[in-house]
Amino acid sequence: MPSPQPRTAVLCGTGSHLPPRRVDNDELSRVLDTSDEWIRSRTGIGARHWADPGTTTSDLAAAAGARAVADAGVSEVDAVVVATTTPDRPCPATAPVVAGKLGLTGVAAFDVAAVCTGFIYGLATATGLIAAGAARRVLLIGAETYSSILDPADRTTSVIFGDGAGAVVLRAGEPGEPGAVGPFDLGSDGDGVDLITVRGGGAEQRLSGREPEPGDRYFAMAGKSVFWQAVRNMSKSARAVLDQAGWRVDEVDHLVGHQANLRILNRLADDIGIPRERSITNIAEVGNTSAASIPLALDQARAAGRLRAGDRVLLTAFGGGLTWGSTTLTWPEQATTRTEERT
Ligand code: UT7
Repeated sequence: MPSPQPRTAVLCGTGSHLPPRRVDNDELSRVLDTSDEWIRSRTGIGARHWADPGTTTSDLAAAAGARAVADAGVSEVDAVVVATTTPDRPCPATAPVVAGKLGLTGVAAFDVAAVCTGFIYGLATATGLIAAGAARRVLLIGAETYSSILDPADRTTSVIFGDGAGAVVLRAGEPGEPGAVGPFDLGSDGDGVDLITVRGGGAEQRLSGREPEPGDRYFAMAGKSVFWQAVRNMSKSARAVLDQAGWRVDEVDHLVGHQANLRILNRLADDIGIPRERSITNIAEVGNTSAASIPLALDQARAAGRLRAGDRVLLTAFGGGLTWGSTTLTWPEQATTRTEERT
């Protein structure tokens, strides 16, 4: 008897959500020693969205998740995975709250913490759940409210990060079919723990016997050092995953890198050898949304008609940890043509 095809994750729905409050560079320039010219030329960012008081990561995640589930044309999933750096609370995870908000109480739900690489790690986790037969359908959401951890007086971080959420629904399918998630390259380097961090609030600070410094509650980043590590690790990881997938660089239709900085995305495309016009970027309007950045960019590119069935998409991310990861994806048919339950 022939052995059954291995099961893998197949993308079957996308969704995203941005909080309504748009904060442009001029608004920040009124309260910080910065300028629209500096922010645009150094980062490519023109505006970002920040959540209003009372709106949490789980609210943004649930809004994006609801859209992805509707787009997939399904009413149920077996697991909800939330990639986030800004959970509603340090304990418990945000995913069970999101599942509850979506009327999915009862399903498996947990968070993935890999900072800006969270969505790629989440994709690997969701693919693993499906391949192991532990879930037939997974809702994976990258969601952030970075505005809750930014130091309003720190111009080096406040101008970069934004809030938002992006979501995908993955179902069990075969490796060769449109929408199938490809191989993964994942990595980390804990020696870089101090380069991207929130120092306070965790066991390290609480058990140190010292009171937290005022700045310990805020996000801090050694931007310059992170910049080059981001370029280096994403291009190395992206090349490794192209090798595993058996794709030539010239076969990649779209590069979707973590939206860290437009200059990083341009260097990344140049290093891999992908023309910059094949790089999908939305950073000008949303800033760096960390774990939400890749699914948000995918959903917006799809809405703009940029992603076509069969297109080869290369995904790569880098973030705190340090962490990095890449995978490949062939873009599926539009959701409206595949609402049937095939698993
Ligand atoms: O998402 C996770 C991964 N994150 C990243 O990959 C981010 C990587 N890093 C970056 O994107 C960039 O390093 C930044 C955007 C954070 C900074 O850009 P940069 O070109 O590396 O600037 P820099 O840190 O070298 O700073 C250059 C100057 C400094 O002034 P001096 O020392 O030359 O007088 C900064 O104090 O720019 C100053 N500066 C600013 N000036 C105006 C820093 N932030 C600002 C600002 N407005 N917002």
